[in-house]
Amino acid sequence: MEVKDTMLNKLLPAVERAGVRMKEFYERRDTQVSFKGEIDLVTQYDLELERMLTESLGSVFPDFRIIGEESSPPDIGKQPGKVIYIDPIDGTTSFVHRFPFAGISVGVYIDNEPRCAVVCSPMLGELYHAIKGEGAYMNGKKINVSKTDKAIRSLFSTGFSYDRGERQKQAAIFARILDISQGMRRTGSAALDLCYVARGTFDFYYEGSLKPWDMAAGILIVQEAGGKVTDLRGCPHNLGSGLILASNGLVHDEYISEITAAEL
Ligand code: IPD
Ligand code: CA
Ligand code: CA
Repeated sequence: MEVKDTMLNKLLPAVERAGVRMKEFYERRDTQVSFKGEIDLVTQYDLELERMLTESLGSVFPDFRIIGEESSPPDIGKQPGKVIYIDPIDGTTSFVHRFPFAGISVGVYIDNEPRCAVVCSPMLGELYHAIKGEGAYMNGKKINVSKTDKAIRSLFSTGFSYDRGERQKQAAIFARILDISQGMRRTGSAALDLCYVARGTFDFYYEGSLKPWDMAAGILIVQEAGGKVTDLRGCPHNLGSGLILASNGLVHDEYISEITAAEL
């Protein structure tokens, strides 16, 4: 694929190289798991891929600050200026259990605006990218959100917090919105959930306790595919808040009413 955007030209080769390594790691079956929390996992490969990406992106984006999940405080929030958010393995739990929905997520931001994004899942053979104002692509082909306009005809996705108390609250909201939809699928990777909204597979996705590196890339990919990304009230999304709603735009309000009602 011919790539004209300079930023993407620097980003893509670095992520693709890391993607090749990720697939090798996945196939080795020697993953060592440590625990950041009771059910929050980290492996030697999260650390290795983050080191690799930080090094390669640092050399081609010298004036950007690189914020990687495994070397940043969990509450870092959104950051001003020129920033690259890296999630070296989004979907570590899937990776550890050998469920192939895991990927590398890298989003380039300037003054809190997304400029360029890449999500790569080598186990699935899927590479997504978006450039601000230039559309969203999967494996070089343009992608668009779905045209489903009723929640009852829609497929949604969500994720659950690593905080078990928080999960109980999320389960109550989940039960309610499951009822207004055709069904749900859970990938275990927020970055891929967003890409699946962008490619029109999922019509809606929401989640309540994300970090900037989980969603920085996926947000631009959804927006550039013609989708909508907001907070719980339908207002502009804030990368520093953990909550995100993303959809094809057509079922957005119907889901918002249900989620808001469930929260009361
Ligand atoms: C997680 C995944 C998951 C989401 C969690 C995230 P990690 O990221 O994106 O889908 O439900 O909230 O923390 O820990 O695998 O990088
Ligand atoms: Ca993540
Ligand atoms: Ca991760």
